[in-house]
Amino acid sequence: MANVVVVGAQWGDEGKGKIVDWLSERADIVARFQGGHNAGHTLVIDGAVYKLSLLPSGIVRGGKLSVIGNGVVLDPWHLVTEVEKLRAQGVEINEDNLLIAENTSLILPLHGELDRAREGAVGVAKIGTTGRGIGPAYEDKVGRRAIRVADLADEATVELRVDRLLAHHDALRRGLGLEPIDRDALIAQLKEIAPKVLPYAKPVWKVLTDARRAGKRILFEGAQGALLDVDFGTYPFVTSSNTLAGQAATGVGLGPTAIDFVLGIVKAYTTRVGEGPFAAELHDEDGQRLGERGHEFGTVTGRKRRCGWFDAVLVRQTCATSGVSGIALTKLDVLDGFKTLKICVGYELDGARIDYLPTAADQQARCKPIYEEMEGWSESTEGARSWADLPGAAIKYVRRIEELIQCPVAMLSTSPERDDTILVTDPFAD
Ligand code: IMP
Repeated sequence: MANVVVVGAQWGDEGKGKIVDWLSERADIVARFQGGHNAGHTLVIDGAVYKLSLLPSGIVRGGKLSVIGNGVVLDPWHLVTEVEKLRAQGVEINEDNLLIAENTSLILPLHGELDRAREGAVGVAKIGTTGRGIGPAYEDKVGRRAIRVADLADEATVELRVDRLLAHHDALRRGLGLEPIDRDALIAQLKEIAPKVLPYAKPVWKVLTDARRAGKRILFEGAQGALLDVDFGTYPFVTSSNTLAGQAATGVGLGPTAIDFVLGIVKAYTTRVGEGPFAAELHDEDGQRLGERGHEFGTVTGRKRRCGWFDAVLVRQTCATSGVSGIALTKLDVLDGFKTLKICVGYELDGARIDYLPTAADQQARCKPIYEEMEGWSESTEGARSWADLPGAAIKYVRRIEELIQCPVAMLSTSPERDDTILVTDPFAD
């Protein structure tokens, strides 16, 4: 039985939502393994639009088990709001179809406040975060002072954890000119939210181990993208979790042998939100056109995404670091009508040609793109469902991408509609 990991292979926003939805129909379990409510997935099913940021995409489909793994940082108040919103849209959510790992660390209001205070601090280089407290929550997790879901079950433990946490945060807040945290109010908030979260809390590693033994198919749903990975991304302009496929195992409590297929989601051009290096970024009409045609605005923050040509150097690298078995290429139709297309095939760094993204931030910022030009196509590829529906130049573009990134195309998505997909390799095939 195959288990599939879906990860973004660029800077996020590659169109994972549609692909994950398509695959979730074939899975029994859909599990999130990193990130938090900084993600934004829009699903369109039978005309209804569902917006998810924390819950796994499988939640909107009946008969699937949705899992939030320990690799996620969970804002319990956001969870309750998102659950209520979906329920209002007729989605059934209960403790039988949603599980949260007991060892998941919580995002508290103080994390969001700290995130935003740091981003707003004068003289400090902004990361351009979503302001949702993701970074500070992960810091507390590795700092061994986080409050975890299981802690909510015992009031004395909550108080102990809060005291340990505030010893750190109040010192930090003094330095930033923020008021100390009201300890009793925070404890009261946690007591109030606990009964709304605890019914979903389970030893997820155990549930998934049993499910695997019973031959269930698991879809691991990644958030953000490989270039936002805290180790391999464009550090420090990254998120605070490991977004690479290897995290799928640790982020739910299964070993790497649980992963059979890694599907990397790749957009036919490049975008990024927030600050940080982006060699193939366009500041001209072409960039504007990509943004307009591709509706490149952030789902969570509404920010305009930066746009550029396809960067094969980056995707070759992320396919390697995530062990991608095949890619799903999305938004090819956005390129319809360009006379000429460019693909970044290498960088010039201080006069030398290199074929990978260097690690040092200053070197990343100095990388100049080396482009290869390709002929565009005037026909529409929107809605194509077979190779025969694609113009020759579009097929050439896709084939060239495969060659450059050294990874085959498993799926090709040609519109937001779920059936507008060309399937080459079924990731779930045995
Ligand atoms: P954080 O995850 O809120 O700490 O933000 C860190 C960086 O990751 C910023 O550049 C964000 O714009 C980016 N980021 C976080 N989540 C997403 C996402 O779901 N899509 C694209 N970028 C994201």
